[in-house]
Amino acid sequence: MKPTVKPNCPYFSSGPCAKRPGWSLAALNAAMLSRSHRAKGGKAKLAEVIERSKALLEMPPDYLLGIVPASDTGAIEMALWSLLGERGVDVFAWESFSATWAADCQKQLKLKDLRLFQSDYGKLPDLSQADWNHDVVFAWNGTTSGVRVPNGEWIAADRNGLAICDATSAVFAMPMPWNKLDVVTWSWQKVMGGEAAHGMIALSPRAVARLESYTPPWPLPKIFQLTKGGKLIDGIFEGETINTPSMLSVEDALDGLKWGEQIGGLPALIARSEANLRAIEHWIAQAGWIGFLAEKSETRSNTSICLKITDPWYASLPPDAQEKGAKKIASLLEAEGVAYDIGSYRDAPAGLRIWGGATVETSDLHALFPWLDWAWSEVKSAAVETVPVLSGSRV
Ligand SMILES: Cc1ncc(COP(=O)(O)O)c(C=O)c1O
Repeated sequence: MKPTVKPNCPYFSSGPCAKRPGWSLAALNAAMLSRSHRAKGGKAKLAEVIERSKALLEMPPDYLLGIVPASDTGAIEMALWSLLGERGVDVFAWESFSATWAADCQKQLKLKDLRLFQSDYGKLPDLSQADWNHDVVFAWNGTTSGVRVPNGEWIAADRNGLAICDATSAVFAMPMPWNKLDVVTWSWQKVMGGEAAHGMIALSPRAVARLESYTPPWPLPKIFQLTKGGKLIDGIFEGETINTPSMLSVEDALDGLKWGEQIGGLPALIARSEANLRAIEHWIAQAGWIGFLAEKSETRSNTSICLKITDPWYASLPPDAQEKGAKKIASLLEAEGVAYDIGSYRDAPAGLRIWGGATVETSDLHALFPWLDWAWSEVKSAAVETVPVLSGSRV
């Protein structure tokens, strides 16, 4: 039976993510539009994003936080280009984005002393292999596989290298062990539901010391430059951006941060995301046709929740038919206005991906579940009726 109740908010995309509950364009009325971002008011807004982010994320006071070009990609690549090459590098990759940072190290920076630890979608590489005399690059949450690092216990407290962490789909949803991390990057468009624009980069005192003592052998474009004459450019960490930001996006980032503070800060944000994961776990336990892509429960993401279809009939289909089936579920739900953008990432195994970050209401997930079951039965019954089209399938 086709369900009748739809989610109030059908936005379950893994980026840009859903706006906070109750958001409207009016939230941006105070934006400093048509004004210079270097004017007193504009700079104050940028500095406010930094200060509110630091407070909400409970960052140590001696860490610096800056707003840098090109979203999370800009922030993490700025870190790789600025810091690596001083010593050996270990990269851990287990899905599309972390694989991109590995390719940066291998093919772009052409690092000689490089070790790559890679695993398939659904698994984490063996993190215990990290050599903490090396710099170590990794994502906290693999957005395209739904596999997250469960904790920071594998990171040496007395490390000599730097822990460089892409945390764009983790911050504001998972506790970050700041004292184990030297560089942490993220973007506005993820957990807090902001407009995509500039990225954020947090630096530990040891990362700053590296920047001030080491000059990489390759050229650095202006948008990657964090130092001048061997000294950190302090202004970047006080709201003076390297290039021009969107003040509309800045206002939206502030709106998300203020909402996070109002609902109870970081513990409340994490709790909302965990509740969303629990709701999906509960539905999956009785759905009977779908499961998590993440093989171990302690590595299951509570933000980018990636699912694979486990039904034996579906599993027996050839890969292209599997992909068609999963895409059909997503397109049926989109056509009904029930869920947008829940297909798995283009490079990931066929399946579904449902965002469970703090801006998603658990009640909307509860409304979505019967629709997922309905779409699955539509796809399966239609496919069973047209067996010859699915060459190689066994029904
Ligand atoms: C883990 C991870 N790293 C990097 C990115 C790229 O982020 P952006 O598009 O904000 O640069 C994403 C985007 O989904 C991501 O999930």
